[in-house]
Amino acid sequence: MSVAMSRQKKVTTHVLSEMKHNKEKIAMLTAYDFSLAKIVDSAGIDVILVGDSASNVMAGYETTLPITLDHMIYHGASVVRAVERALVVVDMPFGTYQGNSKEALTSAIRIMKETAADSVKLEGGREVVESVERIISAGIPVMGHLGLTPQSIHKFGTYTVRAKQEEEAQKLIEDAHLLQEAGCYAIVLEKIPAELAAKVAEQLTIPIIGIGAGSGVDGQVLVLHDMLGVTHEFSPRFLRRYHNLFAEISGAVGNYIEDVKAVDFPSEREQY
Ligand code: KIV
Repeated sequence: MSVAMSRQKKVTTHVLSEMKHNKEKIAMLTAYDFSLAKIVDSAGIDVILVGDSASNVMAGYETTLPITLDHMIYHGASVVRAVERALVVVDMPFGTYQGNSKEALTSAIRIMKETAADSVKLEGGREVVESVERIISAGIPVMGHLGLTPQSIHKFGTYTVRAKQEEEAQKLIEDAHLLQEAGCYAIVLEKIPAELAAKVAEQLTIPIIGIGAGSGVDGQVLVLHDMLGVTHEFSPRFLRRYHNLFAEISGAVGNYIEDVKAVDFPSEREQY
């Protein structure tokens, strides 16, 4: 079956692997709720990430640390109810997999049972390999996440570009290989030099999806609210804004307020 034909159907981890093989780029975006997930899925996105960035975007926290497993399950289940075609990945929140691999498996099973998502994602390299192996041994597909790992913000202290120095770059390459060997079906690389990301994508057989990692990888992911311009304070170099919804929504709300105050809304045709 050609990739074009397979794209009419539900996207699976196998489809993503085929896409890498056929050099077709993978397009991934976040979504956290039913209505936007429906739009993103209908538009033909390949992968929807129910990211723990919901902690920032939906709940207004400074970091991704406060979001809980129950919150992620709520968002994940809302997205899954909307999606027909895209592969849905749910982030495992901070504190649900780092402790020990048994706890990691219990958390991943809850996500899969209670959301009906297709896979989970977790952050880290060698330190989480045991958890990755245990989750995969239960038949749950795992996406890795290396480079800037926001759940470790307190360890690094900043959100700047990672792995610029040779030693950290080497560790990242080794971690990527370890995650692939452990059975991850794909890895997100966040905010690392483009040359390093391209090298990882070339060395690994699984798809590498970048965010702030250049164009030499197998796909791209952005936070939906950032690329639509709903959020407007956050402007990293890697972010391309496809809309300015902050301005558009503010304008619409302003017009509504004016109409209500002027008793222009509702009109005769808008009442019973
Ligand atoms: O939570 C998230 O949105 C993510 C992406 C930035 C990759 O992990």
